[in-house]
Amino acid sequence: MDTKGSERMIERNVTLDVGSGPYELDVHDSVMGLPGIDIRRLRAQARVVTFDPGFANTAVAKSSITYIDGSTGELRYRGYGIEEIASHSSFIEVAYLLLYGELPTAAELTAWESDISAQTMLNEEMRSFFDAFPRRAHPMAVLNSATSAISTFYDVYRRPTRKREIDAGARTLIAKLPTIAAWAYKKSIGEPYMYPNPDYSYVENFLHMMYARPGRQDRVDPSIVKALDVLLILHADHEMNCSTATVRAVGSSRANMFASVAAGMGALWGPLHGGANQAVIEMLQAIHDDPDATIESTLRRAKDKNDPFRLMGFGHSVYTNYDPRARILASFAEDVLARMERSDPLLDIAQELETAALNDEYFVERKLYPNVDFYSGIIFRALGFPSRMFTVLFAIGRLPGWIAHWIEMTTDPDTRIMRPRQLYVGEPARDYVLLEKR
Ligand code: SDX
Repeated sequence: MDTKGSERMIERNVTLDVGSGPYELDVHDSVMGLPGIDIRRLRAQARVVTFDPGFANTAVAKSSITYIDGSTGELRYRGYGIEEIASHSSFIEVAYLLLYGELPTAAELTAWESDISAQTMLNEEMRSFFDAFPRRAHPMAVLNSATSAISTFYDVYRRPTRKREIDAGARTLIAKLPTIAAWAYKKSIGEPYMYPNPDYSYVENFLHMMYARPGRQDRVDPSIVKALDVLLILHADHEMNCSTATVRAVGSSRANMFASVAAGMGALWGPLHGGANQAVIEMLQAIHDDPDATIESTLRRAKDKNDPFRLMGFGHSVYTNYDPRARILASFAEDVLARMERSDPLLDIAQELETAALNDEYFVERKLYPNVDFYSGIIFRALGFPSRMFTVLFAIGRLPGWIAHWIEMTTDPDTRIMRPRQLYVGEPARDYVLLEKR
């Protein structure tokens, strides 16, 4: 029963009749969404474990950061609806909100922005770090490695225990990730690295480092800055998604914030997760380039269990309704292309695919809708980013969410080291067979 407010379950505990039971298990309430049955004593008392691959039905923590209602397509950061935030806020303000739980006052926002912009420079010794990578290196590999690497310049944050260190580590990562991303891109195209300009806003500075060249430092088109700002807002957090759960898992062993976030980047890179935005564009481009490919043949492949092909950018572990971010991006894509006086045949293909899938029984039955990745790549492309940078952009957006969850996990008295159990289905006990007897 997905409940809110007064309709939520009223039982304070439930009875589970298993083995030498029955056992009384406590029920934890939530402010919005499902309550949770506390199974922490179940293994010791009833000598059973629960079976839930991917933790798809298991709450691994209590969190106050983000709320998703998958059945209605609702997404809230610290209680504020994503639609309002995307319309009125800025990415740097959303980062503050996710980290500190409240919208900043004007003075707090100004101080936060100047703190961040004062730290966007990388230690000069990091240049040789980028030089060590081959030009063809995927920027996610560089981002992941560099995120862990920069912690070696800041010993004080290696094992942050006090609020000051945690705060400083968060600001360092948020300040420096766009510089790392831009330098990874410049390395891949053989152009000189551009240094951050503290006079620019957070997003404008990133675009400056991405596209400016020595001697040519024209300001970035404000409409491009605004478009990317909205995209980063929409990617900023999404409760216990695969990469955030990874950040929490790694952090639960008391690994430092930088190492935990780097691990989250590895999870994000997968095509079933943040790598989907690049996979969507490759899918649309393949349809565009293949004279024999049609919308129907593409959907047929997606439905064919013998074909590993999936409709990238469709379906979601939580949403059984339209991903509210996809809804915002669907219209945003048309706006951005119109404002840039561009058209993109891939947008036409995406819209035809969406219409066909939403009228196809296979997708309707399984409640498969477009997710955040279905349209984001088209906008990133319109803004001039190469598809290999799309997941990097997702990581820059998701960084405040990862850090907010790392801090919440680190300061939660319920936190234990992440150590799931298993059901063993291997060989029964057997004796070793000496080589000469095999
Ligand atoms: C993100 O978790 C988050 O919050 C993630 C994210 C975030 O902000 O952090 O929202 C970002 O990762 C979005 C998702 C991006 N990935 C993709 O677009 C890849 C394509 N989508 C799928 O691979 C899939 O939908 C997942 C991975 C997203 C969700 O997988 P689930 O929840 O494990 O669902 P499932 O694999 O159990 O699928 C249920 C059924 C299956 O069919 P049956 O076995 O019931 O016959 O739906 C089918 C699946 O085969 N299905 C698809 C499909 N997605 C699910 N069939 C074809 N194409 C698809 N895309």
